[in-house]
Amino acid sequence: MANLEQTLVLVKPDGVSRGLVGEIITRFERIGLKITAMKMILPKHGDVDRHYELTEEWMQGVYEKAKKKYADLGQKFPYSDHKSYGESIKTGLVEFLKSGPIVAIVLEGEQSVALVRKLVGATEPMSAPPGTIRGDFSLDSYALSNAQNRPLRNLIHASGTVEEAKKEVAIWFTDAELHHYEHVLGSALYNSSFFLPKK
Ligand code: PPS
Repeated sequence: MANLEQTLVLVKPDGVSRGLVGEIITRFERIGLKITAMKMILPKHGDVDRHYELTEEWMQGVYEKAKKKYADLGQKFPYSDHKSYGESIKTGLVEFLKSGPIVAIVLEGEQSVALVRKLVGATEPMSAPPGTIRGDFSLDSYALSNAQNRPLRNLIHASGTVEEAKKEVAIWFTDAELHHYEHVLGSALYNSSFFLPKK
């Protein structure tokens, strides 16, 4: 049985203004994911604010990930407090997302949350392997973004967990905007008897 999930992708203002929307969507479509909702919007402050929820866990995660990256490079992380670091990252992210149009997309497919994160690559484009969207289309780094006091220009947001995806889809889309239709690839990908000899 297929484990169909929905996940949310936001092509951030850097991806839109660099003309990468088609390239990014192609990568999701060609692997077999189904687009169930999509729109270009200038995000409202409240939606971005709800999207990046300033929880203890989120602030800790953002801080630890960046700190580890500096440690891997043998450098001292110039911040000592996860709360002030997390708050400043969130403030920057909110302003960044409101700086221009974004494209919000809901993708459906087998384990789509993990699959999309794999295609997107690591948070820091500099560390994202070639073949991933961030690795192929950006060179930004924690060092550069922190030195310029701005968020990473990493092109895309993708939900991290199934729970997060449910919350995020509901922020950006109403039920009426989620479409239900037959995707012809569905049979080839999920129908167990599709490649058996026809009787
Ligand atoms: S990710 O890709 O969702 O796993 O990213 P995560 O490490 O959880 O980071 C949460 C968001 O913060 C954004 N961000 C930064 N984190 C740390 N340091 C810097 N300088 C920074 N700039 C941006 C990161 O891109 C995540 O946002 P989204 O929109 O989820 O990518």
